[in-house]
Amino acid sequence: MADTAPTKTVVDGQLKTSRLDRVNPFRVMTVMHRAAELEAEGRRIIHMEVGEPDFITAQPIRNAAKAALDAGHTQYTAAPGISRLRAELARYYSKRYGVEVTPERVLITPGASAGLMLLAHLLIEPGDEILLADPAYPCVRNFIHLVSGVPRLIPVTVAENYQPTLPQLQGAAGTSAKGVWLASPSNPTGTVLNRHRLTEICQWASAEGLHVLVDEIYHGLHYVDDLPSVLEIQSDAFVVNSFSKYFGMTGWRLGWIVVPDTHIEKANILAQNLYISAPSIAQHAALAAFTDESMAIFEERRLAFRERRDYLCQELSKLGFRLPNQVEGAFYIYADISHLSDDAEAFCRTLLEEQGVAITPGTDFGENNSERFVRIAFTTSMEDLQEGIARLKAALKS
Ligand SMILES: Cc1ncc(COP(=O)(O)O)c(C=O)c1O
Repeated sequence: MADTAPTKTVVDGQLKTSRLDRVNPFRVMTVMHRAAELEAEGRRIIHMEVGEPDFITAQPIRNAAKAALDAGHTQYTAAPGISRLRAELARYYSKRYGVEVTPERVLITPGASAGLMLLAHLLIEPGDEILLADPAYPCVRNFIHLVSGVPRLIPVTVAENYQPTLPQLQGAAGTSAKGVWLASPSNPTGTVLNRHRLTEICQWASAEGLHVLVDEIYHGLHYVDDLPSVLEIQSDAFVVNSFSKYFGMTGWRLGWIVVPDTHIEKANILAQNLYISAPSIAQHAALAAFTDESMAIFEERRLAFRERRDYLCQELSKLGFRLPNQVEGAFYIYADISHLSDDAEAFCRTLLEEQGVAITPGTDFGENNSERFVRIAFTTSMEDLQEGIARLKAALKS
């Protein structure tokens, strides 16, 4: 268990004393930057590092954006977002999950990133401990550091399907614990928390007076039959979601959060102060995401991701990569490379320089044996994945 006291923290073997010092860099960005440099030199790079769909935003959404621009929707909106979009999302919860959420509980944010940041301010006082999995999406623990909270990292392995178990949470929760922050499906492992496990965690957290927050950004991009929203289980949980992944709108910077009635007012005040409003054109464009036409496009893309997953898992296994878990959602494979290297960063660097294949070192996602893992994203075309596999084969031979 990483011991991260609020005033002195060890990160990457160094003692960090300030809030800012505890925020570590996002290593995938360094990979992307180097890949861009090599491309500028004329090299063809196979991108398997990027955490965004290669598909551009669906045509109906782009058309709605053009119409919004012509209609002059170019100014700030209300801080929690335009009413029509909040109402669409409330309907979406009813239709997709069978839960009733009032539009007032939905706040539109500039991406899930801003949603997470807002919730960190809303829910964490200095010294408060938040329980979360290791490995996990790195920005989350950095946001907790930035509000002087303490991320209490719980090392999870394939034995727990890379999601914290109830006994692990119980063991990690000290007197300063205030909340449990989960992500299902997870980045980088693609594993989900099933209904049973999520229910037992929620019941325990409620009994202990801990809030529950679930990052559901990869909902929709899942390959299992049952993926509950935490709101089906606990109506006063906090949810983070986004138009980035399933809806294919990364560059539009648009997400949302759902908060319980008790927190609507303070969440609105934070939205006003932190960013005034999410981008107006993006909000108007996103209204077109809920039509049958758009939903059919998203489903087609989900099936394409599933096909890529199947191909890549099969080929990587043939090459000797160890893939500990089933990829149940998102678009990532978390591969164990310990038989090839005990330094994931060096492994990724060499692969990029010598073979022009970009993947992400596990060290981006935590401290739990992470130097023995890499994250491989299937966010590129089947042709590029095939080329990527051919280059990996060459790398392993040399
Ligand atoms: C688990 C998770 N949460 C949040 C985000 C942030 O997404 P955005 O700000 O684009 O909505 C990401 C991006 O990769 C992610 O993987």
